[in-house]
Amino acid sequence: MTMIKIGDIELKGRVVLGPMAGVTTLAYRDFMKPFGVALSYSEMISDCGIDYKNRKTYSYLATSNVDRPVGLQLFGFDKEKTVKAIKIIEEKADYDILDINLGCPVFKVVKTGAGSSWLSRPAELEDYMKAVVAASSKPVTAKIRLGKDSNSINVWEIAKMLEGCGIKMLTVHARTVAQGYSGVPDFEAIRDLGKSLSIPLCISGDIFTADAAIKAMEITGAELVMVARGGLGNPTLITNINNRLEGKEELPAPTIIEQTEWALKFSEALIAEKGERVAIMELRGLIPHFFNGFPGYKKIRAEISVNIKTKEDLFRILNGILNRNRL
Ligand SMILES: Cc1cc2nc3c(=O)[nH]c(=O)nc-3n(C[C@H](O)[C@H](O)[C@H](O)COP(=O)(O)O)c2cc1C
Repeated sequence: MTMIKIGDIELKGRVVLGPMAGVTTLAYRDFMKPFGVALSYSEMISDCGIDYKNRKTYSYLATSNVDRPVGLQLFGFDKEKTVKAIKIIEEKADYDILDINLGCPVFKVVKTGAGSSWLSRPAELEDYMKAVVAASSKPVTAKIRLGKDSNSINVWEIAKMLEGCGIKMLTVHARTVAQGYSGVPDFEAIRDLGKSLSIPLCISGDIFTADAAIKAMEITGAELVMVARGGLGNPTLITNINNRLEGKEELPAPTIIEQTEWALKFSEALIAEKGERVAIMELRGLIPHFFNGFPGYKKIRAEISVNIKTKEDLFRILNGILNRNRL
């Protein structure tokens, strides 16, 4: 397989870890990386938050050597504000790629004119993205959707326009804004888009199995594939996609012991990054995924998602699973 380059950044592989607000922390990215992630993205970061020196926003800028190459994803609605934020993050953060969020459907973001609302303003967007590309010393990538709704699919027009602005890779989440995160992604709407672009295309949408990844890449001509929800508690999905792309066998399904050890490793890293109180709230939502599909674990999943209050509570449950299964 040929090496994919984003600007001058070389990628070792084809699987991109998709940005997910509240999930793709540095701890999560570092944890997922050894499973075969070629490129990771931070969760979306507000350009205004950067400008106002918001402490929480600044915490999203953290990267590590393990994590790289990594893209920081900004969202904004105003050219001057975004350019200002780019100048600040270039000083404060170690990263490789700048991504612009043009696909977020969340009302709080869309109502300001940021995220997916840009897709309805192509002329303004062109002006904005030209300014972003000019301001960034790092390669710029962008993430879009098919269009606002099924009656206003404009992905081809937007893709060509963004390519003309000088972005170095495009991700398409093959759903409309109106679909949110449900409904079937429409890869046919962008059949062969990757072949008609001079920059790499990354495809996103319901990548829950290696088969789904291969199929989405084949239909769309994308050279890269983005794993988002499918990777939650399921890190070997990334290895399996890489294996299939390299003509190798998928791994045997992970054992409960492997899954629990990974859950422990990730929990420890998130607690170290965020502190116990915040990390435990986030782990309530994330750790149950590690036990999906294991018969008899429904109660344990519920207990983790509702009852854990401290790291001792969590580690007691996870070590209990290990002890019972190692007997
Ligand atoms: C909880 C959650 C948070 C997300 N946050 C972001 C984000 O910050 N930036 C972004 O571009 N996409 C975000 N996404 C979209 C994902 O990156 C991905 O494109 C989408 O989930 C489709 O892929 P999937 O169906 O395989 O999960 C988010 C998705 C989820 C479920």
